[in-house]
Amino acid sequence: MTVSHDFGGRVALVTGAGGDIGRAVAVRLAGAGATVVLADLASRADAVEDTARRCRDERTSARVHTVAFDVTSASAVDAALAEVPTDVGPPDLLFNNAGYQGRFLPVGEYPPDDAARVLAVNVVGVLNVLQAFVRSLRADGRGGAVVNTASMAGVGGAANMPAYAASKAAVIGLTRAAALDLAPHGIRVNAVSPAFIGPGEMWDRQVAEQAAAPSQYYADDPATVEQQMIGQVPLRRVGSVEEVAGVVAWLLSADASYVTGENILVTGGIG
Ligand SMILES: NC(=O)c1ccc[n+]([C@@H]2O[C@H](COP(=O)([O-])OP(=O)(O)OC[C@H]3O[C@@H](n4cnc5c(N)ncnc54)[C@H](O)[C@@H]3O)[C@@H](O)[C@H]2O)c1
Repeated sequence: MTVSHDFGGRVALVTGAGGDIGRAVAVRLAGAGATVVLADLASRADAVEDTARRCRDERTSARVHTVAFDVTSASAVDAALAEVPTDVGPPDLLFNNAGYQGRFLPVGEYPPDDAARVLAVNVVGVLNVLQAFVRSLRADGRGGAVVNTASMAGVGGAANMPAYAASKAAVIGLTRAAALDLAPHGIRVNAVSPAFIGPGEMWDRQVAEQAAAPSQYYADDPATVEQQMIGQVPLRRVGSVEEVAGVVAWLLSADASYVTGENILVTGGIG
């Protein structure tokens, strides 16, 4: 059964909206009445357009606006949000979700430039978008809600993913700190931590990359790696993007009005 919240009159900014989880959340929010502002890299315009089309398919009257920015540039985020027409925004809901998995290599071999990129996108980028969102919201004194996408890797670590695990642990810390700072302004801030979610680009990539990377934890052929990953999940299957979207929608909804500073694991029981 799909539980639908009422997001009528709300405006939701979704980053990573051309990606698998961002798309599922955007469609869920648009279907439940929200105006959605879809954000991703300019190079992902086609994928964002696909998300926009699916939002309109879900609810013909859905209002959809698209913006392009790289989350690592605070000025680009600010400029793009300033361009959101006043009859659309500013957003009062944020799914702060853009992310980069990085390379799959053991900690001793991890390239510093890629580690810097992972931290720039997943930590500084999440902070940049949160700050721009808060600035535009506080201007008119409305409350709001934020969900940051962390990861099980940030809770329990993950082999061959030292930079990614560090970045997602940082997202959880940022979530708790921001929840404290923004509570007086009526803004709730929570995180979700998915583990193995598929099908999708990130699932395919992590299976292939873990098979290619040296480790005692995974075999070197993708089909076996897939089974090894699923074997770690008490529910014995990968999660769907819709199952992540359901938790995100709940956290953004009035049903979660007394929940802030939490990190909800969406892992099928891992952790
Ligand atoms: N899929 C999983 O198994 C899984 C598990 C745990 C956490 N996550 C997290 O969920 C989030 C969404 O992942 P997904 O599975 O949809 O992956 P995805 O690769 O399909 O989507 C990620 C999106 O982020 C965008 N992005 C990357 N760098 C950006 C930048 N610098 N500026 C703006 N946008 C940028 C990409 O263009 C892409 O559209 C990520 O934060 C990811 O780390 C995913």
